[in-house]
Amino acid sequence: MSNVPTPHNGAKEGEIAKTVLMPGDPLRAKFIAETYLTDTVCFNTVRNMLGYTGTYKGKRVSVMGGGMGMPSVGIYTYELFNFYGVENIIRIGSAGGIADSVHVRDVVVGMGACTDSNYASQYHLPGTFAPIASYDLLRRAVTSAEKLGVHTMVGNVLSSDVFYGDDENALASWKKMGVLAVEMEAAALYMNAARANKNALCLLTISDCPFTGESLSAQERQTGFTQMMEIALDIA
Ligand code: ADE
Repeated sequence: MSNVPTPHNGAKEGEIAKTVLMPGDPLRAKFIAETYLTDTVCFNTVRNMLGYTGTYKGKRVSVMGGGMGMPSVGIYTYELFNFYGVENIIRIGSAGGIADSVHVRDVVVGMGACTDSNYASQYHLPGTFAPIASYDLLRRAVTSAEKLGVHTMVGNVLSSDVFYGDDENALASWKKMGVLAVEMEAAALYMNAARANKNALCLLTISDCPFTGESLSAQERQTGFTQMMEIALDIA
């Protein structure tokens, strides 16, 4: 673990738990730490990408922001898996609903993550890699959601490199393939987990639906986010 602290994470060895919850927004990480964890210690302030370790129902758990997009999440999760001994990363984020059956407030569990990114090219594979969630984390998330009375939809998501994409038909093409929702990070997380032989899961609250124009207010996003966060904390 001589690689720590890193240029992006000020944590010292042993300061991060084996399981990390990762919202995109670092202020959400702060909110989760302050609301749900006890005995909380802030381990990172570099670039304001806040990270905390604390206790939830007797379990040691960390929560850290991951930023937006695959390069950002790719850096933070690579370091957590490979330099900090983290075993499980659960992304808790927002997404746009693509499938007709997906509406705002729904919680989508990313079983697989399609992508338009070139992230996988670094592995020089003789084909196309299919980034997938940890089956164990996924199974536990679905069981936990049922226990908490939260309806989830489990399936493929799209991790896109572009929020303001120029190709107006792109999402329709993914929709034809049964993709449930679009976000911007899961594929990099899943690939980093696969390469490091670790576990990852992406839980998403639908905040908008690009095809119908449905969208949540900031207050409604918070409520939706709470359900997803409780699932993540339950399985941490
Ligand atoms: N995150 C939330 N909504 C999104 C959208 N429409 N596209 C990409 N990422 C998102």
